[in-house]
Amino acid sequence: MSEYNQERLTQDVVDAFENTANPRLRLLMTSLVKHIHAFAREVDLTPEEWMAGLQFLNATGQISTEQRPEFILLSDTLGLSMMIVSLAQARAGGNAKGATEATEATVEGPFYWAGAPDLALGTDIGEGVPGEPTFYMGRVTDTDGKPLAGALLDVWSGDGDGKYDVQLSAEPTMKARGRFRTDAEGRYWFWSIRPNYYPVPDDGPVGDMLRATNRNINRPGHIHMQVSAPGHVKLTTHVFVAGSPYIDEDVVFGKRDSLVVDFDKHAPGKAVDGREMKQPYHSASFDFRLAPTPA
Ligand code: BEZ
Ligand code: FE
Repeated sequence: MSEYNQERLTQDVVDAFENTANPRLRLLMTSLVKHIHAFAREVDLTPEEWMAGLQFLNATGQISTEQRPEFILLSDTLGLSMMIVSLAQARAGGNAKGATEATEATVEGPFYWAGAPDLALGTDIGEGVPGEPTFYMGRVTDTDGKPLAGALLDVWSGDGDGKYDVQLSAEPTMKARGRFRTDAEGRYWFWSIRPNYYPVPDDGPVGDMLRATNRNINRPGHIHMQVSAPGHVKLTTHVFVAGSPYIDEDVVFGKRDSLVVDFDKHAPGKAVDGREMKQPYHSASFDFRLAPTPA
């Protein structure tokens, strides 16, 4: 087929969508067609490569379940999930150029579990969880720095061995999970453990892709937080452990420099909340800034 006819083919397929009633769907489909045709032409895709790609997508579908969302992992490892997170935050005005910036958002990941217990500030959600004790504290404010009282922090993390509770038992045990509300000055504090790095599930086609391309399979240590307050854009983000292995090569590209925090090490003794610690512990401080809901 001549170059002219290759272009004609793309246009014919685009035209085939002209009766799509929903204009947004039409845009999504026609743009997708233009880009995948351009991709095939750019790399001069062979029938064998095309078939290998289709078999890869087939295998990705076959291994997928609700607990094992391999297509989401594919999106994560291609950086598409982070691109969608970034576009959504920009659309909500959260990090528009020129505005005082909200805290950067990052991927939710597959280990969130709705229904974590509501806990008093200061509670230790790391009891019985392997890992070094850590005191977490900070404030939730709006983008002008005004404290947000009663803001909700929904927290979850893996343990010091890099495992989430949902990976260790069929039912979530709600270990290293909890919901906290900020006090009148927008402050929060609680105890947990310092999370370790961990590999994403790598025994499926995405793992094969990562190995075939010599990529790292790990995420650096992080604790997940969903932060919300009435009248503000809900924030899904992490606090990353400074100096964690893989801190500069997060396999899902979720790490942002603004979210990396020092986990200061302390000798046994009285912690800032008055708790008597018989073993060494860490403390990590991070403030969250929420954007106002767009008008
Ligand atoms: C997580 O941080 O929990 C996660 C994110 C993306 C893929 C796998 C895990
Ligand atoms: Fe995680």
